[in-house]
Amino acid sequence: MAQFNAQNLKTIGVFTSGGDAPGMNAAIRAVGRLAIHHGLDVMGIVGGYPGMLNKEFETLSQNSMANIIQRGGTILKTGRLPEFHQADVRARAVQNLREAKIDALVCIGGDGSFTGAHLLWQEHQFPIIGVPGTIDNDIAGTDLTIGFDTAVNIALDAIDRIRDTAASHDRLFIVEVMGRDSGFIAVDVGVAGGAEEVFIPENPAPVEQAIDRIRRGMARGKKSSILIAAEGHKPGRAYDLAESIRKKAGFDAKVCILGHIQRGGSPTAADRILASRLGANAVEALRRGDCDAMVGVQSGVYVTVPFTQVIGFKKRVSGDLVSLARTLAI
Ligand code: F6P
Repeated sequence: MAQFNAQNLKTIGVFTSGGDAPGMNAAIRAVGRLAIHHGLDVMGIVGGYPGMLNKEFETLSQNSMANIIQRGGTILKTGRLPEFHQADVRARAVQNLREAKIDALVCIGGDGSFTGAHLLWQEHQFPIIGVPGTIDNDIAGTDLTIGFDTAVNIALDAIDRIRDTAASHDRLFIVEVMGRDSGFIAVDVGVAGGAEEVFIPENPAPVEQAIDRIRRGMARGKKSSILIAAEGHKPGRAYDLAESIRKKAGFDAKVCILGHIQRGGSPTAADRILASRLGANAVEALRRGDCDAMVGVQSGVYVTVPFTQVIGFKKRVSGDLVSLARTLAI
């Protein structure tokens, strides 16, 4: 674990980065309130890495973090900055942070955000701790990320509603959920929603397999079915699947794309608690002098994992759960 001299730690900066996730506000609150509890100052960086470049820094007080734990989105706003791949851009960001007297950072985001954070330590010895926040749950080194539980529950609620109308009209539906590189949301809602098939980027099911399941269901009198597709790199791919099923089997499938609905709304209790614990642990890690690492949870134990064991590593969807989704759907 990389270490810095935490004796002179006076001001912690906190920012959210990448796609927003329900529970990020609870994490900001935990970082801010625990830092204040320990007598530290806290600065919010507005808009993620772009905010660092534009010097969008604001002091966070006990009051500015009131009434946010239940709110979706992020009060600090978020953004992506492809220019952060350039060393001179990173150098300017560090200069701005030092001018603002920020001594260390907490970055709430995903793999891409942590890559930038890791480089700030490597190139400028600027200490940062990462807090995993993305609805996709695709970050290595932690079993759970902030926002995943809420996104799954939002998608599940939608699927339950779709099942009502699918059953009333004897229809086949394909519901597309988020997940750029991973099928964590798709698999969880597939099992919890009783879907007939789950299409995920990691383990793509052939369309014929879904058609076979639908046919077997029909043979025993089943008249409606729901298939779940993770969007993968092409949001809207559910339309391609519907077209392929129509061409191969003549079934007419309705498509429902849940999209960004899954990223909004009030976080579940599980996400608020996860975010509060991870945010607090991030501050404790900095106080110990730990940096260049992410706080996470593994098998119920809260851990600190070096970024070198997180960034670029692929967390696998549970093969057992994928098999179970398919077995139970028969
Ligand atoms: O935050 C993760 C995620 O929601 C992915 O599931 C999705 O593919 C992507 O972000 C969409 O990103 P945006 O619309 O913000 O560019």
